[in-house]
Amino acid sequence: MMQHNLIIILYAYSFAIAKFSIGSDTLFPNQTLVLGQTLISSNQMFEMGFFSLGQSKNRFMGIWYRNTPDVVVWVANRNNPIADSNGLQLAIARQGYIVISNSRGTIWSTNSSGHVFNASLQLMDTGNLVVLTGENRENLFKRHAWQSFDYPTDTILPGLKFVDDIEAGVEKYLTSWKTSTDPSRGDIIVKIENKGLPDVVLLKKGKKMYRTGTWNGIYFGGAPPFPTPLFKLETIFRQERLISMSLAHENSTFVRITLQKSGFIQHLGLNARKDDWIILNSIPQDPCDEYGKCGSFGMCTTGAGIICECLKGYVPKHKKDWLLQDWSGGCTRTSPMNCDHIEKHGFLEVMGVKYPDMLRYRLNVSLSLAECRSLCLRNCSCTAYANPYITNGDIGCLMWFDELVDTRYLPRIDSKQNIYIRVLNTELESKATLTEEKKNMVILLIVIAIVSGVLVSCFINGGIHYLARQIRQEGRTDEDLELPLYKFSTIISATNNFAEENLIGEGGFGHVYRGKLSMEEEIAVKRSSKNSRQGLAEFKNEVMLIAKLQHRNLVKLLGCCIEREERILVYEYLPNKSLDTFIFDQNRRIHLTWPNRFNIAMGIARGLLYLHHDSRLKVIHRDLKTSNILLDGNLNPKISDFGLARTFEEDQSTSETRRVVGTYGYMSPEYAIAGKFSMKSDIFSLGVVLLEIVSGRKNRDFDNCYRYYTLLEYAWLLWKENRSLELMDDCLNSTSIESQVKRCVQVGLLCVQKFAVDRPDMISVCSMLASDEAIPVEPKEPGFCVETRPTLVRSYASASVNMENGRMSISDVEAR
Ligand SMILES: *[C@@H]1O[C@H](CO)[C@@H](O)[C@H](O)[C@H]1NC(C)=O
Repeated sequence: MMQHNLIIILYAYSFAIAKFSIGSDTLFPNQTLVLGQTLISSNQMFEMGFFSLGQSKNRFMGIWYRNTPDVVVWVANRNNPIADSNGLQLAIARQGYIVISNSRGTIWSTNSSGHVFNASLQLMDTGNLVVLTGENRENLFKRHAWQSFDYPTDTILPGLKFVDDIEAGVEKYLTSWKTSTDPSRGDIIVKIENKGLPDVVLLKKGKKMYRTGTWNGIYFGGAPPFPTPLFKLETIFRQERLISMSLAHENSTFVRITLQKSGFIQHLGLNARKDDWIILNSIPQDPCDEYGKCGSFGMCTTGAGIICECLKGYVPKHKKDWLLQDWSGGCTRTSPMNCDHIEKHGFLEVMGVKYPDMLRYRLNVSLSLAECRSLCLRNCSCTAYANPYITNGDIGCLMWFDELVDTRYLPRIDSKQNIYIRVLNTELESKATLTEEKKNMVILLIVIAIVSGVLVSCFINGGIHYLARQIRQEGRTDEDLELPLYKFSTIISATNNFAEENLIGEGGFGHVYRGKLSMEEEIAVKRSSKNSRQGLAEFKNEVMLIAKLQHRNLVKLLGCCIEREERILVYEYLPNKSLDTFIFDQNRRIHLTWPNRFNIAMGIARGLLYLHHDSRLKVIHRDLKTSNILLDGNLNPKISDFGLARTFEEDQSTSETRRVVGTYGYMSPEYAIAGKFSMKSDIFSLGVVLLEIVSGRKNRDFDNCYRYYTLLEYAWLLWKENRSLELMDDCLNSTSIESQVKRCVQVGLLCVQKFAVDRPDMISVCSMLASDEAIPVEPKEPGFCVETRPTLVRSYASASVNMENGRMSISDVEAR
């Protein structure tokens, strides 16, 4: 739907501009272009001339969109900035070369191209700057003597060809800008890598950071499909070799692909009504896109808490690192393959994967898959084989030797990309596939967790049981609860029998539906699923707690429904969903300006202050995170989800539990390791939330080009170098207030300090955020920095239910 609207807007736009008068798009040999003058393409879309960036005095010659001049699509002299603009001019020689010069002489020029006569320079409607000759004008298909499309900078426009033509000795690729005000070559490039099967790779300082996966006949096997019909890919193959790739330009001129200096390849489309560019897609996209995330023989998967697992027959090479979620060491064979008995070897089919990188391989496109298998079987160092194409039936053979690197499950379930991995027949006979094995493991661990959780809650929540008994005696409950009880039939009609279209959220606990009690009154209905992780005790805990809590930054519980098996909570309905759906979403993030975000940060802090200090019950939330912060119609934050919250006596400030629940990425070290929770563990989570609000990045799944850092580590590094402003989400540039941003980062870092005693309490957090004075306290190192890892290992190993399985860390098992 949105795509259609966009197309309509784009076409409407192209009609509108056709009415305007047309500036000159051509420069002739007797003319010069000086500072302030530009060529404008005849469709009024592109403009070419001299420009400067930010505060810099340096001049560049380049091409930009006329209506969005900030978006420069090509730069001529990217590595030759012009500091002296005296006598600055651009000219085209009759022989066909372009010259930029100032009063000191030539600064930049193109090569003279052979027998050119009667040349002129023209900015085409495609944004391509071309040297036209007499021949070109007679024959439209004659190759241009020179064109800017042959020298891409960081942007692909429709029609610009990305080329990897080894025979012709031509390679054209993208290079990022160095900074947003310096277009010179940065250290990130994107190019086609072709070893018989093309792959598009992103390199940083020559090191592979991402690859799209090999071409499977229709698309790049590990990349998301192109986001809209506006991005139609045109490819040219010579035999099996992809030699050029471009966006079809008849489709639309209003799209582009740009390699950002941050290392993201973005697909953008123009919203012409507002003259702004919308990011339609951005890759790398998820943690599994990070090249070699799981090391050799590791398999990456998103969605579940676990990101890396070893292929069947393999175990983590460095168990401790693996537990700490540093998977880069990869996996190794459980027991070495005996190559004298290959009759005992077989292949395990793993379905729907992005194939491993072609490091050592053999490719034969005419062999059948059966022949491929027997070839691979005979050579003991052949670790896997597959059919590289999804288009050629059973024909095609790609074999990998030795290491398998950068393999992942594909998010698309219908993928036909299956790989066959060498295992022992005995491993094959155990039947369990990777995923089944994982499922069993998870079920086992959940059982352990529930059993131990029930035991623990019997002790810790002794008091709750008395109340629980009271709730069960219907009729008296509302008095005890001070809360309206809704009939199940009322809930059914309000949600239209829990209709699919009313479903607004789901999680480990069950589902959340939108409902209508009357024309005006909208509600959110949280229905615990029958096999919910949230047990009866937790449910009652939440009811008891939240019924007694009233604050404008806490979500309001209107009532509940306990009938038969049903356990339902009725909340006020908040139309804007949760904070994470804004700040982590490419399109929605811009709707939260800095003033909104600061207001949200303050609101969360006030809510937490109330919980810790001001409420009738003292409450530790235990699961504070951006997805538990809901936003009302005015973008005011409300803390929700009290299923894990605990009350505590004033003198009992630290409690312990053997059952660590919460969410990885927000858990303080002492809680994750030793199960100690206190107000200070909530403060830690708040710190993570603050840093996420400022940066728009998730602490967990922190993906950027700085491979091994978490958000906390990255924020800490920036802080130490006095660069904390750089943490800020780019989309806040125009609305931010520097002092407030710095304040938020500083308070965030104070909250996530490694030792609980160093962290401030909510009273100081609120006063630090609200005041205008400099905060005198310097943060110390955050928890979960690299240096703390050895300590973590010891603590993990000491005691935990979850350690019974060597492969998973504490957070993977219990975290939600
Ligand atoms: C197995 O294949 C590799 C890679 O092609 C090759 O180098 C090696 O010699 C082969 N080994 C045998 C025993 O054929």
